[in-house]
Amino acid sequence: MLSAEQLEQYEREGFLVIPNFFSAEQSQLLLKEAKKVLDEFDVSGHPMTKFTTSREEHVGDDYFLTSGDKIRFFFEEGAIDAYGKLKVDKARAVNKVGHALHELNPTFQAFSQQGQVANLVRQLGFKDPRLLQSMLIFKQPYIGGPVPIHQDSTFLYTEPLSATGFWFALEDCTTQNGCLYFLPKSHKTHPVQRRFVRVEKQGPDMSTVTGTTFVGGDEYKVPEDAFVKAECKAGTLVLIHGSTVHKSGPNYSDKSRYVYTFHVIEGEATYDDKNWLQIPGAAGEKGSARFTRI
Ligand code: FE2
Repeated sequence: MLSAEQLEQYEREGFLVIPNFFSAEQSQLLLKEAKKVLDEFDVSGHPMTKFTTSREEHVGDDYFLTSGDKIRFFFEEGAIDAYGKLKVDKARAVNKVGHALHELNPTFQAFSQQGQVANLVRQLGFKDPRLLQSMLIFKQPYIGGPVPIHQDSTFLYTEPLSATGFWFALEDCTTQNGCLYFLPKSHKTHPVQRRFVRVEKQGPDMSTVTGTTFVGGDEYKVPEDAFVKAECKAGTLVLIHGSTVHKSGPNYSDKSRYVYTFHVIEGEATYDDKNWLQIPGAAGEKGSARFTRI
């Protein structure tokens, strides 16, 4: 459980670094499972999609848009050549795996839905917490790309806002291998204006296809020295308020930076049907009710 000081710090700063949230044994177990997931990934037949959060890149393809309730693999930018072939070994080419590890992978399911997490989300004030958008993010040595400045509620918009990031360090995270950087207190100064939404587009054969795009908001203009780095050890949980402006650096070092992350939204809030992540849900279920209760 968080102390009153920790809760106050989270409310004030918009993020909270919690060292030793999970044990070295758990960390090793999750790391081993992450490597197994990657090892068992069969590259053949993959649509060679790539994922980026940069504004310019069009990432709307079916493989990505239907990954909300599956375990799928997304490559680093630059890992695939013009012919759709991997330029590097698959273990170094995959940027992330998502977005339903919390449902479909027994190890990550158990970890995500453990009592310690359930207690914590209630301490943060969630009445009907729902899990979604779980990811393994591999910042592989030398090739791990940076994540541009963003706010998590841009991707998981609810009314009222409720998205909260849970970010678990499976390895030590440093400025060398791509740790997080935060703009303190930005959850109070930077309203979420940008959205990452589904959009109907015209396909190459003039048919209508579903893609994604960013809408609203200006480019984030944040001086480099306004960010604070959040270096941390394996076993650390970092809580990220959905409106907090943050980013992570590239990994040009010789050490990987494996992270497991998921998001929690309030089930009583309205989940926006324009959000990129949509899952079918059971009959009669709507909005946030489709997502895993914790
Ligand atoms: Fe984020």
